Amino acid sequence: MNGELRFPEGFLWGTATAAYQVEGAAQEDGRGPSIWDTFAKTPGKVLNGDTGDVACDHYHRYPEDVRLMKELGMQAYRFSIAWPRIFPEKGRYNPKGTDFYKRLVDTLHQHGILPVATIYHWDLPQWIQDEGGWANRRSVDYFVEYANTLFRELGDVVPLWITHNEPWCVSFLSHWLGQHAPGHRDLREALQVAHHVLLSHGRTVQAYREAGLSGRIGITLNLTVVDAASEDPADLRAAQISDGNANRWFLDPIFRGSYPADMVEIYTEQAGPFDFVHADDLDIIRRPIDFLGVNYYTRSVVRAGEDGMPKPVPPAGPVTDMGWEVHPESLYRLLTRLRREYTGLPLYITENGAAYPDRVVDGRVDDPERIAYLRDHFAAAHRFIQEGGNLQGYFVWSFMDNFEWAFGYSKRFGLVYVDYATQTRIPKASALWYRDVIAANGIR
Ligand code: BGC
Ligand code: BGC
Repeated sequence: MNGELRFPEGFLWGTATAAYQVEGAAQEDGRGPSIWDTFAKTPGKVLNGDTGDVACDHYHRYPEDVRLMKELGMQAYRFSIAWPRIFPEKGRYNPKGTDFYKRLVDTLHQHGILPVATIYHWDLPQWIQDEGGWANRRSVDYFVEYANTLFRELGDVVPLWITHNEPWCVSFLSHWLGQHAPGHRDLREALQVAHHVLLSHGRTVQAYREAGLSGRIGITLNLTVVDAASEDPADLRAAQISDGNANRWFLDPIFRGSYPADMVEIYTEQAGPFDFVHADDLDIIRRPIDFLGVNYYTRSVVRAGEDGMPKPVPPAGPVTDMGWEVHPESLYRLLTRLRREYTGLPLYITENGAAYPDRVVDGRVDDPERIAYLRDHFAAAHRFIQEGGNLQGYFVWSFMDNFEWAFGYSKRFGLVYVDYATQTRIPKASALWYRDVIAANGIR
């Protein structure tokens, strides 16, 4: 790449993690079990039987982790709050849970790092699952109570709030494809879950406004670009369906106040009527937010199966250790589509990054592929900004290697390498490269 690509002044550079993936201390200070504790302990659900019991021990090591963030020049840290630390049992608030996040946020402020809190990153308290989980409409009330507790305790020290991380994963991946906790395979349940998660988002935005706080609140979606394998009308239709499931099912209610009609038709046929959608729900879901968080990793290419439904086509180009195609161009396409079809609101890339099979050699981790991945995606984001796009920050996934859900510790997404036997942190070459990007506010 020739020439320097400079980002606008004030562009926010950070990294992201999630509670269950890094904290460990699963039994400490009154934390209750979550659906991920249960799922990870169910044989066959997580590779090698890995669990988040210890993870990166971030619960104890956050002071040194934050110090390392500072050394690496990071300006913001997106973390998530573990609901089962705050409400370990029905109706019981656990102040020791919020104390941990107060300590973390204080430490971030002391180091001049901006805290960005995600309220829900998948660790539903088990007691709520025992009442039917997100499929039960009562979960919406529980969520709002939890969020209000956080606004009361942390609202004046956390300037940026994200209600939910990736409702698609919470609903379809976890309740239809069965790959994440609670591991169900029921389309109707997945649709109910998606609706209740969106409704809890809208109600929480409303609660945040009523609390009169001065920060900003938004939501993070995992979005993608879906390409058809060919110009064949059946493949084009399959791509439209896949886009309806991955992108429009969430963007349309949030920005337009309706579910996409083509998808409603398909889902009604496959899963029955939408009687769980009540009269005012969609008005609540479309409550104005302050920004949209975008998690982008890869695009997808689909063809039509026998039944006309989308089937994934294996990538032809380079892939990461997840088998995900490296396709930076599609980040640019995604951002321009959001701007064209949905919103001029500020956007943040709240996650982007890549897993590679990193190895320590002579005390160092050389990861040129991750550097190339990030550089090309930063360039795609830069192009969007050049054309007038309102992108305000970028959070690399992840600060450090961590528990990669169903893949356990086998996949490494970190800028910082974690030796799980000793909890040693080793900044990879990509972390040092990222430090230079931040210092220059640009790439070469
Ligand atoms: C999703 C990712 C998710 C992953 C879990 C993918 O299908 O798009 O966002 O983290 O599955 O393995
Ligand atoms: C999730 C992260 C996950 C990452 C990589 C996202 O879907 O928010 O928790 O580790 O993708 O799969």
